[in-house]
Amino acid sequence: MNNKQDHAFIRQFSGVIAAFVVLTIVLIFVARGVEPEVEEDGISSRAVLAEQRIAPVGAVRSGETGAAALAEAAAALTALPDAEDVVVDGPSVYNGLCAACHESGAAGAPIRGSADLAARADERGLDGLVQNAINGINAMPARGGNPALTDEQIRASVEYMLQ
Ligand code: HEC
Repeated sequence: MNNKQDHAFIRQFSGVIAAFVVLTIVLIFVARGVEPEVEEDGISSRAVLAEQRIAPVGAVRSGETGAAALAEAAAALTALPDAEDVVVDGPSVYNGLCAACHESGAAGAPIRGSADLAARADERGLDGLVQNAINGINAMPARGGNPALTDEQIRASVEYMLQ
């Protein structure tokens, strides 16, 4: 190789190196965009997420804060829905809850459409039956065991039972 060829080679080779340097810089910026830097903040929020995932399902509630949390949970469980939001659908209430006892006659529950139920209706009237269904009577739990049911829903399901 003569001097001229050396010069040409060095020029080309520097060009290639420069191209690689530019490519490297471009790649660094692209990579930053794809994977945001993990800062201390990111690590701590990951730790919080991990804590949430492995947290026990139950919790021991004690003292004043425990009592407050329990009261809140109990209130949420028994909170009555707003009257206008409630769909009054006797058959679906009956089938979803009352049928468990009133189709089979479990524990002496009067069976839907039976003579027993008709006799009770004759004796107490629809209002009397509804009152007993709301308040509970003997083995019949108040509101069938679901305190969230409204009076209207109980009445509709009793009417359906009588059909
Ligand atoms: C856990 C079983 C059970 C469920 C659930 C249940 N009942 Fe009853 N129900 C009974 C039993 C038992 C009786 C009979 C009580 C008695 O007269 O000794 C009864 C009686 C009744 C009576 C007759 C009350 C009377 O005055 O003689 C009505 C009406 C009634 N249930 C309505 C309902 C409705 C409406 C639901 C659903 C919202 C429902 N029940 C859910 C067990 C159940």
